[in-house]
Amino acid sequence: MKREILTYPHPVLAEKAKPVAEITDEVRRLAEDMAETMYADKGVGLAAPQVGESVCLIVVDVTDDDGAYQGLMTLVNPEIVSREGEVESEEGCLSVPSARYTVRRAERVTVRGTDLDGKEVAVEADELLAICLQHEIDHLDGKIILDYQSRLKRALYDKKVKKWEKTRKN
Ligand code: NI
Repeated sequence: MKREILTYPHPVLAEKAKPVAEITDEVRRLAEDMAETMYADKGVGLAAPQVGESVCLIVVDVTDDDGAYQGLMTLVNPEIVSREGEVESEEGCLSVPSARYTVRRAERVTVRGTDLDGKEVAVEADELLAICLQHEIDHLDGKIILDYQSRLKRALYDKKVKKWEKTRKN
């Protein structure tokens, strides 16, 4: 089932997500819904808080037209255990509509977590996958791409959001 994506400034997006204690059917269903929502909205990743569930669960699929097939990756309780290098990436976020921002990221990361069977996995990532994993894991820490921006850029975005809210009410 496709879920509604919460957008900034929804408070859940700023919360620290809780670790998944046990992989229940509910968690599996949530992961399925998140993948469906991500594909429907043409995202390359989604974190559970974005659909209003403050738990440590992310889905990622960075397969592109010319890239090698990566497929859907679901990670439970993902954690970045090593970072190397530095890159500036231009990112969008389904929870921060109509904006793209530059964010400084590590070039390569190793992420540990488990899959939906509870099996431990370690993912060594570079390029888009590395960026995407850092972006989604940020969501679990209550951090979004706006948090990397200057006060001025944030203020400009806040203004846009207020305008949208007004138009919606009318
Ligand atoms: Ni995002």
